[in-house]
Amino acid sequence: MINSKIKKILSKKNKSKIVCLTAYSKNMAEILDKHCDIILVGDSLGSVLYGMKSTREVSLNMMINHTKSVKQGVKKSLLVVDMPYKTYQNKNQALKNVKKVIQSTKCDAVKLEGGKKIIKIIKHLTKNKIAVMGHIGLLPQTQKGKFRYKGKSVIERKRIYEDSILLSTAGVFSIVLECVESNLSKMITNNIKIPTIGIGSSKYCDGQILVTDDLIGLNTIKLRFVKKYVNLKKIINRSIINFKKDILKKKFPSKRYSF
Ligand code: KIV
Repeated sequence: MINSKIKKILSKKNKSKIVCLTAYSKNMAEILDKHCDIILVGDSLGSVLYGMKSTREVSLNMMINHTKSVKQGVKKSLLVVDMPYKTYQNKNQALKNVKKVIQSTKCDAVKLEGGKKIIKIIKHLTKNKIAVMGHIGLLPQTQKGKFRYKGKSVIERKRIYEDSILLSTAGVFSIVLECVESNLSKMITNNIKIPTIGIGSSKYCDGQILVTDDLIGLNTIKLRFVKKYVNLKKIINRSIINFKKDILKKKFPSKRYSF
């Protein structure tokens, strides 16, 4: 269903940049909601929170539970949820699972990874008035081997470009471009009417997304496209050291913190 939040995102194309971040819980969502246009409950939570080797291990129930938490902190942003691996293998399964996610979480939209291979599934969802965000370039759910940027060879560039056209004609409201080479991102962004959201895909995209835990330094992973704005791990560590010191010196809890 094209709601007013989606209309607002669409209207930003060629006008102002779209700010997106991931959230997995209410507390983080509350902070992000004031600043973001889109909050994504990404299946990156599998590796970031649960220490899984890949996003393939993430289940539908995990996504539903985290989205229920995030939803409590969201007032104005568009809330998008990643559909996990193998939950959209055919049209009927996809629609059934997407409806389950939307009905139980009251999210605004879902995100699916892939282009041509899943285009019939995407079309089936959009025909059924589901707001869908596409995701092309590097696809963590199906990536085999080493993670590297996409758009190196002519064949790969052609495939990614064609996928962007197919997705936009299938009715998605926006497309995440993950680790797509800069000029290819620029070409896609200039040639489709819906906004592109980049992650490691250059300044040319209509918006940008990062995994919040990466940019605040809670996740220590080092990726070329992640700019760390704060080292929260260091700050938390300092607070815990001070807490421990206070306990050992019998300074905490003082009268002020006692009944
Ligand atoms: O899972 C995720 O967090 C994502 C974004 C990083 C685009 O798909």
